[in-house]
Amino acid sequence: MKHIAIVVGIKTDAISIDNFPRWLQDIPDNIFNLSKERWGKNEYGLASDVGIAYYLLKKSFTPYYKKKYTLTILTKKDISKKIFDQFDYIIGLYDPYYYALDTKISENYKKYNHIIQHTKAIFYQSLALQKFVLNKKLYLNILRNHGFPVLDTYSLKITDKMNSTQVLQKIKIYCSRWNTNIFITKPQPGGFGIGFKKWNLEKLQKNYKPLNNYLQKIKELPKIEAPYLLIQNFVPDFEQFYEIRTYWLCGKYSHSLGTIIDPLSLGTSGFEKVKYAYPKNEYPSDDIIEHMDNIPEIIDNKLIQHLKKIGSKIFHLLPEKNPFIFRIDFGCCLQNKNICRDYFISEIEYLPNIFPEYNQHVDIMKRVGDSILKKTIK
Ligand SMILES: Nc1ncnc2c1ncn2[C@@H]1O[C@H](COP(=O)(O)OP(=O)(O)O)[C@@H](O)[C@H]1O
Ligand SMILES: [Mg+2]
Repeated sequence: MKHIAIVVGIKTDAISIDNFPRWLQDIPDNIFNLSKERWGKNEYGLASDVGIAYYLLKKSFTPYYKKKYTLTILTKKDISKKIFDQFDYIIGLYDPYYYALDTKISENYKKYNHIIQHTKAIFYQSLALQKFVLNKKLYLNILRNHGFPVLDTYSLKITDKMNSTQVLQKIKIYCSRWNTNIFITKPQPGGFGIGFKKWNLEKLQKNYKPLNNYLQKIKELPKIEAPYLLIQNFVPDFEQFYEIRTYWLCGKYSHSLGTIIDPLSLGTSGFEKVKYAYPKNEYPSDDIIEHMDNIPEIIDNKLIQHLKKIGSKIFHLLPEKNPFIFRIDFGCCLQNKNICRDYFISEIEYLPNIFPEYNQHVDIMKRVGDSILKKTIK
């Protein structure tokens, strides 16, 4: 008998009640309320973390599984060694980085990590995997050194002393190497489009005030692991080609979702406006599509085959070979002279948004739940 606990409370990545899979329809209010996303006045979606937890809770009462495991749902108030020690496994869907963002206290990141390090329970995702993924500068370098396609990325350490004159000097050098005036900056660890900004060097040189304001905001973000400001050439194709999010469960390919984020909604607070697409052979059935605001487009299977091949080769570079969930995002296009446009690895995620509303056809919360069982009770 294994005792499993899940920490929830992300309050995002939600699904609307109308689109609940059948197994979710009887979720009681007291569980729903643990993690819901506010959409409007008295309007809420259920966050994916509590959806996954409820799936596992229900399953733990079935004849076969009731002898195998118990499931306890925890929230941030339960993050302590004493409580974690009561379990064999802790699944931290509400993880240390999120804890720091949510509470706006950087120290909470370390506090949570310290508990993970010292508890008797096994914690997933492992700390080693979290740290690897949170350091984008590091993993992009490792990927590049192993021959994976990635964007040229420069980085500046985020310190209290950094100022716009100094930063601008560096950026001028990078832009001349790229032969461009348009570049983007984003802080690491980032996530959720935090701090993403597109710039025009010419305009900046005339008026650097916006950079001053921006740096001020960047300095105020929770400082986690290695805080760097990343600088990349602006890739206009992000607005035209689907960014392809490939999902992997216990190291095996699960499915993909193509997204184009409306650039005007990026890096601002509030919801991003997104266009969706699915691989041809994973395309949802008509009754699911019927309920969507826009008809999603189709991604060529050949492209997915190609990305799967690249993605599958990444896992041996990770500190953990078969995480219960993992996402590899591919962007388009590398700026080279090839006639066929080349996709590159844009980022990797250890607790990705799973878009339950847009992955109903794979019953994504159930799939992740089953993957957690595979990882824990086998
Ligand atoms: N170099 C770039 N050029 C243009 N758009 C970009 C670039 N890098 C990121 N973006 C856009 O910003 C979004 C967020 O960037 P990403 O690196 O995925 O960070 P996050 O961790 O916030 O998801 C991407 O989905 C893409 O739309
Ligand atoms: Mg992203």
